[in-house]
Amino acid sequence: MARPVPQRPAASDDASTAAGAPSAQGLAPRAVALDIVAGVLRRGRAMDDDRPDLLALPPRDRAFARSIAAATLRRAGQIDALIAQCVERPIPARDAVAHDVLRIAVAQLLFVGVPAHAAVATAVALVRAHGKPRLTGLVNAVLRRLAQQGRAMAAVQDAARLDTPDWLWRSWSAAYGEATARAIAAAHQNEPPLDLCVKEDAPGWAKKLGADLLPTGGLRRHGGGAISELPGFAEGAWWVQDAAASLPAKLLGEVRGRKVIDLCAAPGGKTMQLASAGAAVTAVDISSKRLGRVRENLGRVGLSAALVAADAAAWRPAEPAALVLLDAPCTATGTIRRHPDVQRLKKPGDVERLVQAQDRLLASAASMLGAGGMLVYAVCSLQTEEGPERIAALLAREPALSRVPVTAGEIGGLAGAITPDGDLRTLPCHWAQRGGMDGFYAARLRRET
Ligand SMILES: C[S@@+](CC[C@H](N)C(=O)[O-])C[C@H]1O[C@@H](n2cnc3c(N)ncnc32)[C@H](O)[C@@H]1O
Repeated sequence: MARPVPQRPAASDDASTAAGAPSAQGLAPRAVALDIVAGVLRRGRAMDDDRPDLLALPPRDRAFARSIAAATLRRAGQIDALIAQCVERPIPARDAVAHDVLRIAVAQLLFVGVPAHAAVATAVALVRAHGKPRLTGLVNAVLRRLAQQGRAMAAVQDAARLDTPDWLWRSWSAAYGEATARAIAAAHQNEPPLDLCVKEDAPGWAKKLGADLLPTGGLRRHGGGAISELPGFAEGAWWVQDAAASLPAKLLGEVRGRKVIDLCAAPGGKTMQLASAGAAVTAVDISSKRLGRVRENLGRVGLSAALVAADAAAWRPAEPAALVLLDAPCTATGTIRRHPDVQRLKKPGDVERLVQAQDRLLASAASMLGAGGMLVYAVCSLQTEEGPERIAALLAREPALSRVPVTAGEIGGLAGAITPDGDLRTLPCHWAQRGGMDGFYAARLRRET
């Protein structure tokens, strides 16, 4: 075994050598991808599209860095199993950076379609830049073997299972059956398409953007590219919103000219959707900073809403409400296809903590309703504790509330996304041929008296 090496500083500091290298060598985007992956896997830090080192890259390098990091996190189980097959003993914790360099290089080789020579040469350069020259031989050997045999080795892996943390696999199997859990996990393995919500003239924008018009009314575009460079972005003709994320607000029915309270509103996808449909929206969020994003987003698309920075569990409207949307904070396990870091970061304890907040927010939202008022509760989670179990508990506590079942006609004909109780339950494996959709749960309740 080689001699121990001194502790290195954090990867982000260390990567500056590589990040400063000319982009033509391709080191800069890989150095950023490396730091994103190390941040998620070792420091519990979420993948953040607004991080300064990512934003400092030219748009193409930025997209490349993001796709390397996302592919690594999507396929982390498979990648680690492949690396383990190529080393005599586990890579020690003090060489974590070499392990992470291998991870992003294997992702490039097998899942991003980067030529082997580029993936190997840049990986060797990165371990050198991180002060680990003695590990270049190991990195080189593992990657040369995987460049030759990696595809065949990956083809016999149980990819969906390996890439899904045990606790999520168990909970989805219990909730939806093992075949559906497998289909959900399989849907997480590929980059999802870009979904947009348009203010008006969806067919016209579909043509201009080369996008499909979805039965839910939004657009779907395949093929990537920088969002800010697409036609219509600058003039605010549309905003990014997954097809499933557009469904909960639709459950409020016709909102033109009506007051809607949008609780937990930031960054404002549903606020824009409701304001665009003609509602007078009061958007409440606990975070002033995130409300700033709502303001920015509304400004870009030329819409307006009243913004309130407050804890929705304590805030009350001036008069009893007719329409309330509560898009509660949750584990976001329904968004893993767009945010693959979620399945690496979230733990069962997060579910336990969040259900308490969800109960408080639900009780508060229900208390805002006047007689006949309607509440839509939504979470972008696949965990039943955060969805149907919260609604069952609320209905048991509040006899004045009753469920108003969802109908397929309200949600673009998605009959398969309606539960026996009449709630909305989309899964990442729905619309598999079209590229899937996020996993959302929503229930609609009415206050009878
Ligand atoms: C799932 S996101 C909402 C997404 C948003 N509805 C949209 O469509 O863009 C959850 C939001 O809840 C907010 N939040 C968390 N706890 C809250 C509370 N007690 N009161 C109000 N907002 C809260 C968070 O700041 C976060 O912005």
